[in-house]
Amino acid sequence: MSLLELDGVKVHFPVKKGLFFDRTVGHVYAVDGVSLSVESGQTYGLVGESGCGKTTLGRAVLRLNDITEGGVVFDGTDLAKLPSEEMRAFRRRLQMVFQDPLGSLNPRQNIESILAEGMAAHGIGKDAAERRKKIEDILAKVGLPSNAMSRYPHEFSGGQRQRIGIARALVLEPDVIICDEPVSALDVSVQAQVINLLEELQESLGLTYLVIAHDLAVVRHISDVIGVMYLGGLVEEAPSDALYAGPRHPYTKALMSAVPVPDPEVEDRRERILLHGDLPSPANPPTGCRFHTRCPWVQETKCATERPPLLDTGDGHKVACHFTAEIEAGTVKQTLATGIEAVIGTETVAAEAVETAEGEAESPAKVPGQGDAPVAVPAKDGAQDQGVPGGS
Ligand SMILES: Nc1ncnc2c1ncn2[C@@H]1O[C@H](COP(=O)(O)OP(=O)(O)OP(=O)(O)O)[C@@H](O)[C@H]1O
Ligand code: SF4
Ligand SMILES: [Mg+2]
Repeated sequence: MSLLELDGVKVHFPVKKGLFFDRTVGHVYAVDGVSLSVESGQTYGLVGESGCGKTTLGRAVLRLNDITEGGVVFDGTDLAKLPSEEMRAFRRRLQMVFQDPLGSLNPRQNIESILAEGMAAHGIGKDAAERRKKIEDILAKVGLPSNAMSRYPHEFSGGQRQRIGIARALVLEPDVIICDEPVSALDVSVQAQVINLLEELQESLGLTYLVIAHDLAVVRHISDVIGVMYLGGLVEEAPSDALYAGPRHPYTKALMSAVPVPDPEVEDRRERILLHGDLPSPANPPTGCRFHTRCPWVQETKCATERPPLLDTGDGHKVACHFTAEIEAGTVKQTLATGIEAVIGTETVAAEAVETAEGEAESPAKVPGQGDAPVAVPAKDGAQDQGVPGGS
């Protein structure tokens, strides 16, 4: 059994209306039936466009959001069904690192106090002296000097603050850390250092990660398995290498085609799939395959009426599309105004836009990873963000 197993998790937020009596007039289907497994000591990378439900899913695992339906089985216990008092014991073992390190650290507390607070609440360390010793050890592990303890969050750089966020999780000796966009707020060079740090800590402490990001380049280096989310559901899941070598779902193909390739020759020749339109509202998701309103391969049958399940297409590569095999074999053709560009040399040749059923082709939307530089992972001794401003 995997350390963490999600089984058909749904998180629906009620939409209320009315001045005196709150009436539920609809729901935001933020997470709508996600099943995935995270193996002990491994990293599961969850990617997808802004608003597709990644954070909601991460928060649901920790029961910070109510789970509408489904199971979250951690180490054999279904957290979704656990009374809140019993959930407390599990909270320590499942920690979260947030995107915005400054916003998640109390500006009026020094680092020692921030880190000791959680330890005291969970009964870690018998007294302040023992907690202080542990905090010193963890600060050293995350690459911060021990004098950081008496300083305040605003005295640190963005990368250092994220190290503090990681230290805050680590002092509680967790088994699983959910990293929600752990490097999105950081410069690219610092991003790589924080990713390296997470990898080193995983190796030395045997941690299990669920890493959430909108940028495929960020999760690529760190993930064993990657799940691609679209509008509340997983559309593809595969071991990291297999996903990058051959994405099979049309949405993943579009995401991958937007990630720049370091080889200039390949970069010049690669085909980019630019998706049309915005992500539909999760309060009113499309019927059938949720991607059918933007899918370049949408077919007349099934796509708009039947939601495709996530099925194993071989070697643990799972895809939720009715036409995976046909698209792979080239026996179904693209149907929707494509927005596909073949970039040849320095010339960009836009493929002729096929008229959509409605008429005009819309302008292509930005997809995750597009325009984002790939994360260059430097030598692990990089220490650009390690000095404490104003002293050492
Ligand atoms: N408490 C809430 N009440 C109502 N709707 C919510 C709530 N929290 C999130 N949502 C909605 O659920 C959807 C998914 O939000 P979520 O924050 O999980 O997306 P995300 O994939 O993490 O996006 P991002 O990449 O921008 O962080 C969004 O439409 C959001 O507006
Ligand atoms: S099921 Fe249809 S709309 Fe959905 S991804 Fe496959 S081809 Fe596209
Ligand atoms: Mg989010």
